[in-house]
Amino acid sequence: MAQLNLTLLVIFLSLFVSSVLVNPSLAKHNPKTLSYIESSCNGTLCRDLCIRCLAKYVKNYSTIDGPHHLAQVALSVSLSRALHTRGYLMKLAKELKTIKNKRDYLTVKDCANQISDSVDQLSQAIKELSRCSQHGSTINDDMLWHISNVETWVSTALTNASSCVYSFTGVRMSKRMTAIKVKAQNVAEVTSNALALFHRYALRLQQATARTTQKP
Ligand SMILES: *[C@@H]1O[C@H](CO)[C@@H](O)[C@H](O)[C@H]1NC(C)=O
Ligand SMILES: *[C@@H]1O[C@H](CO)[C@@H](O)[C@H](O)[C@H]1NC(C)=O
Ligand SMILES: *[C@@H]1O[C@H](CO)[C@@H](O)[C@H](O)[C@H]1NC(C)=O
Repeated sequence: MAQLNLTLLVIFLSLFVSSVLVNPSLAKHNPKTLSYIESSCNGTLCRDLCIRCLAKYVKNYSTIDGPHHLAQVALSVSLSRALHTRGYLMKLAKELKTIKNKRDYLTVKDCANQISDSVDQLSQAIKELSRCSQHGSTINDDMLWHISNVETWVSTALTNASSCVYSFTGVRMSKRMTAIKVKAQNVAEVTSNALALFHRYALRLQQATARTTQKP
């Protein structure tokens, strides 16, 4: 399986300087589910955000059924953030066009296109991930193919979302543009978490495959 390239790694590291508060409403969760989420998020670059988002999403589920399910939930979180952000950006771009703020309009429109690409890629990733589980416990080439597709889609979604973040590089940005940057950054962060959780699932499968092929 393709490893994350260095560029992506640099993007990750530079994105995750932001700290996030842990939500006190976590106490409402099934403690077993919560501790599973906590240990799974251990090692992701935005651990607190990872826990907060997943916990919020699984409020109505009593349990998370292993790393495949966890990766599905994480990707759904990421898609839902991306959809929300895309809607926000498109609405804002329309407003900026109306008031003829050309510079901001172009920046926001470009960013909306990037996030829109992320939405498509994350949807594809979710589709591919659901195909990974249809083979039961047997791991074959077909499954490894789907896994590598998920990896590609999520990495590309992350790159597009990061491009959006980096298009806001002005030294003196307006409050509104700063708010957009934060939203885009949030999409990138939850996507990076999803990628990390997916990697863990993929690694397990690879290890299982290695064990199977070692058998005499
Ligand atoms: C997270 O990892 C640290 C060390 O890397 C460990 O001490 C801690 O117990 C882990 N937390 C969970 C919830 O697994
Ligand atoms: C959880 O359930 C509540 C009430 O039934 C519902 O409003 C909410 O949308 C559900 N959340 C998710 C993530 O499914
Ligand atoms: C999103 O990323 C892909 C691949 O890196 C690139 O070809 C595409 O142009 C990007 N989307 C936008 C709107 O720039």
